[in-house]
Amino acid sequence: MKVTKAVIPAAGLGTRVLPATKSMPKEMLPIVDKPAIQYIVEEAVNSGITDILIITNRGKGIIEDHFDRSPELEERLLASGKKDVYDEVVSISKLANIYFIRQKETKGLGHAVNCAKSFVGNEPFAVLYGDDVIIGEDPACAQLIRAYEKYGKSVVGIKAVPESDISKYSSLKVDKLEDNIYSCTDMIEKPKTKEEVLSLYSILGRCVLTPDIFDILDNTPPGAGGEIQLTDAMKTLAQTVGMTGVDYTGKRYDMGNKFGILQATVEVALKNPLLAEPFKAYLKDLVTTL
Ligand code: UTP
Repeated sequence: MKVTKAVIPAAGLGTRVLPATKSMPKEMLPIVDKPAIQYIVEEAVNSGITDILIITNRGKGIIEDHFDRSPELEERLLASGKKDVYDEVVSISKLANIYFIRQKETKGLGHAVNCAKSFVGNEPFAVLYGDDVIIGEDPACAQLIRAYEKYGKSVVGIKAVPESDISKYSSLKVDKLEDNIYSCTDMIEKPKTKEEVLSLYSILGRCVLTPDIFDILDNTPPGAGGEIQLTDAMKTLAQTVGMTGVDYTGKRYDMGNKFGILQATVEVALKNPLLAEPFKAYLKDLVTTL
């Protein structure tokens, strides 16, 4: 079955980016000239996704506004002859069929994904974490969808993380199938001891799930941090029917922490046709003072 639906969980509290995220959702933090979540929606659309459910919560209404029309602004842009900006602003509202639902309590990523049950129905669907922006020629979500189409199992986007950091992430048991594709038969969220570490491969930012995940989520008790962990539910899938892991190409920026936001800003600016040259000159000058 073709993957045409995606879910973007964006209902986290973003405590690692406070105070910026006190009233501003981290998903709306800009990378140069677009909010993080627009890059993620564009990646989904470029991967063949037509219907997107964004999971929000109280205080995240500006995400809805961003993907809506903006008649007053549009009129002003047209009147002042700024047709290019007008076209760009209008195009945001036409990217895909975008739906919203609120996660009423912040009970974890697994709980957030479970809020998508009636939107998803009985189809495979992609999950794009709302604070993970991945930039590359071949959209990461499309790479996972291709692996789903080839192997028929749920897919996780994976990356190797430094050994010193693995206790903050998930750890996966993987065996190589081809090039950057692995079979995944077990996983653990935030391993506490060295013995619990299955590999340095961790799930980062993207997955494609079959709808049987919802029954599993219904029966998943709170795990690490007292939250319902998506990893705990995916572990059941991995151990029973198995999953596929794709070490995707593309650069991932973690918009959930301050360093990741800085990296995204600098690197995306250096690729921007209008900003690249003056920004490079500025940086070169700046580093001589460091
Ligand atoms: P994080 O693990 O980064 O949690 O969520 P967080 O609460 O946003 O951030 P910190 O740790 O307080 O700084 C990963 C993704 O899952 C979403 C977040 O919005 C983010 O996209 N999420 C997390 C939810 O939608 N609901 C939740 O209950 C938790």
